[in-house]
Amino acid sequence: MDAELRASHDARLANAMAYSLDAGGKRLRPLLVLATAAAFGAPVVAAYPAAAAIEFVHTYSLIHDDLPAMDNADLRRGRATSHVQFDEATAILAGDALLTDAFRLASSGSLPAATRLALVNELATAAGSPGMVAGQMMDMEGSHRDLDAAALSALHRHKTGALLRAAVAMGAAVAGVDQADRVQLDAFAAAFGLGFQIKDDIEDVTETAAQLGKSNSQDAANAKTTYVTLYGLTGARQQLRAQYEQARSALTKLDADTSVLAAIADYLA
Ligand code: IPE
Ligand code: IPE
Ligand code: MG
Ligand code: MG
Ligand code: MG
Repeated sequence: MDAELRASHDARLANAMAYSLDAGGKRLRPLLVLATAAAFGAPVVAAYPAAAAIEFVHTYSLIHDDLPAMDNADLRRGRATSHVQFDEATAILAGDALLTDAFRLASSGSLPAATRLALVNELATAAGSPGMVAGQMMDMEGSHRDLDAAALSALHRHKTGALLRAAVAMGAAVAGVDQADRVQLDAFAAAFGLGFQIKDDIEDVTETAAQLGKSNSQDAANAKTTYVTLYGLTGARQQLRAQYEQARSALTKLDADTSVLAAIADYLA
């Protein structure tokens, strides 16, 4: 990631990109890429460009998610949000650059060209209008409006689940995993991805901003329908548990050492 930042032709842009990247996120998506690739025998270094690429996309999504026109948040990864620290134009451009540079990263490296093409395609599909951005649009449209269970689950699967599924799929692409195992891995990732956003909904209510390192009570402030508003805290925790168990059970059907993936899944427990 540091090497990629040195490609920037503008120092302020590079600073803003580094400011959000270096702030200390959990690095969950790159970890999923590496853990999946390693579980199926690929050397982890082969997955570094893909891992960096997805963290770039994720970091861009956070910068834009926090903008005044979106969730209007002022704390992220323990720091002032990009538009507060710099200005709105710089935050928008830092996000644009992280998103675009991600595709140079995903297309780079020494993997076979067909594998790199698959990585680019996977990332673009998950991040773009079939995936995350559609979820963000649904999220904005759902503001100040009640969503039913099906609409909320679709929203969460797009805005958050799509990128987490892509992380696992990209790790599988690096390792050349066969089709049957990919289906099982995707079942794991889909359950983990939905569970992850349910947990995020819960923590927005139950945790302090200091604990989260990001603004809390955001969803109420923006009148969002969440798993907590729809099911209550206890109901949301039950739904989270169900997704966690589904994710763990999908892993047991794989003939590979999935212990690291299982440990990542335990983040939901
Ligand atoms: C936050 O993602 C945004 C959601 C999709 C819920 P993370 O919780 O993975 O954020 P970082 O990367 O650790 O900051
Ligand atoms: C995150 O959803 C979706 C993204 C694609 C960034 P939220 O808006 O709930 O994420 P946080 O709570 O601000 O991290
Ligand atoms: Mg949001
Ligand atoms: Mg937000
Ligand atoms: Mg949230």
